[in-house]
Amino acid sequence: MSWAALGQSLGAPKQRDRPRGIGAAAVRRHGLSIVALLRIPYGDLCYLLRMAYEEEWWGHSSAGITARNLRKRYGDHAALDGFSLQVRPGTVCGLLGPNGAGKTTAVRILATLLRPDDGQASVAGWDVVRQPRQVRYRIGLVGQNASVDEVLTGRQNLELFGRLGHLTARVARTRAGELLERFGLAEAADRSAAQYSGGMRRRLDLATSLVLAPAVLFLDEPTTGLDPAARIDVWAHIRALVGTGTTVLLTTQYLDEADQLADQIAVMDAGQIVAEGTPDELKARVGPDRVETVTRKPTLDEVFLHLTGHAPTTPHQAAGEATR
Ligand SMILES: Nc1ncnc2c1ncn2[C@@H]1O[C@H](COP(=O)(O)OP(=O)(O)O)[C@@H](O)[C@H]1O
Ligand SMILES: [Mg+2]
Repeated sequence: MSWAALGQSLGAPKQRDRPRGIGAAAVRRHGLSIVALLRIPYGDLCYLLRMAYEEEWWGHSSAGITARNLRKRYGDHAALDGFSLQVRPGTVCGLLGPNGAGKTTAVRILATLLRPDDGQASVAGWDVVRQPRQVRYRIGLVGQNASVDEVLTGRQNLELFGRLGHLTARVARTRAGELLERFGLAEAADRSAAQYSGGMRRRLDLATSLVLAPAVLFLDEPTTGLDPAARIDVWAHIRALVGTGTTVLLTTQYLDEADQLADQIAVMDAGQIVAEGTPDELKARVGPDRVETVTRKPTLDEVFLHLTGHAPTTPHQAAGEATR
C-alpha cells in the first residue's frame, strides 16, 4: 500500500489537497526507520502517521486568516459592510463588538458556513468560497451555542467527531481519551453530556473542535453564559491551546476576555472593523497612563470568586496578567 493510499484510508485529504512528499518527509522528521515502524502495532502506526500529516498541515498553513472587504446583507440590513481583517498564524485575535455588530456573521463566512455577497477571504491558505472543503479540513469551530449531543456521553461525543473526521475507530478512541484528560473531563467521560455543568459542556465543546487538530480555531463567544470561575477555567484551556501554535479568532463582548487572551484586538461595529491593534496600543490611543488613587469596594465578580473558593485577583495581579 502506498503512503498516499494509507494516509487516505486514515482520512487524510487526497494528494491534490495537500503538499507533496508528505509521507517521506514525516517519517524523516520523526526520525523513524521503516524497520522501527514495522514493529509498531497497526493502530498506533495509523495514529502516528495521522499526527505526522497534521504537523505537516500546520507547517503548510503559513497563512492565518485574511479577509478583504467582506459584505453580507440580510434584506435591507448590512450585517457585514466591508469587513477586512488579517490574523497572523499562531496568534490569537480578539474580535470585540457589541451585540449585532456582525461578529458571528464574519465567523460563519470564514468557517464556510455562509457565503459572502462580496469580498474575499482565505483561511489557512485556502479560499473560503472557492475551496471550502480544504478550509474545513483545517478548522475547528466552537459556536455561540453548545454543539455537543446531550444523549451521548462526553467520550462518545468526542469519538463521534473523530469518526465524522474519518479517523479509524481505534484512533478516534485514543484521541478522545487524550482530550478528556486534557480538558479535565476524564472522570465524567462516561456520563451523558446532559448531566454536565455549563462549564463542563463548554470544555467538551472546545475538545470536540480539537479532535482533528485544526490549524485555525474559531471561538464564537466561548464563555458567554458561564459563571466567573468557569470562565477563568476556559481561559486557561484556551491559553494552553494557543501555546501549541493554533491560530485563534475569538469573538467576545467581554473586554477583559480579549485583554487576557488576545495578541491582537479588532474592534467591530456595524459590520466593520473600527479599530485594530495590540491591547496596549488600543489603550494608549485613548490617552496617556494616568495614576489614580481610588478606594473601591470589591466587584461582585470578586465576591463570587471569594465565596466559591477561588481567590480574587488583586488589581495589581490583574495588571500584571494584562501585560503578559
Ligand atoms: N439569519 C439572519 N437573518 C437576518 N438577519 C440576521 C441574520 N443573522 C444575523 N442577522 C443580523 O445581522 C446583524 C449581525 O448579526 P451577528 O453577526 O449575529 O452579530 P453579533 O454576533 O456581533 O452579535 C444583526 O443585526 C443581526 O440581527
Ligand atoms: Mg454573535
